[in-house]
Amino acid sequence: MRAVCLATSLALGLIGCERESRRFSDPPSPTPLYENNAWATAEGKRLFQWFNCVGCHGLSGGGMGPPLMDDQWRYGHDPLQIHATIVNGRPNGMPAFGGRIPDPQVWQLVAYVRSLSGQLRIDVAPGRTDHLSGKSPESLKEREQPTPEHAP
Ligand code: HEC
Repeated sequence: MRAVCLATSLALGLIGCERESRRFSDPPSPTPLYENNAWATAEGKRLFQWFNCVGCHGLSGGGMGPPLMDDQWRYGHDPLQIHATIVNGRPNGMPAFGGRIPDPQVWQLVAYVRSLSGQLRIDVAPGRTDHLSGKSPESLKEREQPTPEHAP
């Protein structure tokens, strides 16, 4: 009897596996840990300078990269999409930083990038920059409503 039970539950288990795909390899998005955390977002701001994201995405759009402050997103404004952009790069000139930036720091960058277009709570987004000529603080940024992606 016990063997039958075992066989049945094994069989059910196998059927279960087929019907339900559990993606154990994808951990849940850690976004809330970073986006509700002012320190993490401030770290993202520091890293944005440190890895010279600012060189291409400069204060008001910068050189060759998109400004990241408006409602226009080529590859998506969702945290997971921004994470993928940073890790894998994008074809028209966005370098891949995967393997060069530890994952927690990538998430800090994601949070900061999102603060640039006002997606974070104002008590989390970074305040005024130390130097006077800086742009206005991220915490004062009006929230943009990202429009659907329009990848080239
Ligand atoms: C060498 C210049 C350069 C550097 C450095 C750079 N980027 Fe970019 N980035 C670009 C360009 C150019 C694009 C547009 C790519 C495309 O359209 O395929 C881009 C795209 C992006 C996007 C996608 C925007 C959208 O509309 O979907 C994000 C987010 C982004 N970069 C964040 C970062 C972050 C964070 C860093 C620093 C870790 C960084 N970038 C460093 C040039 C750069």
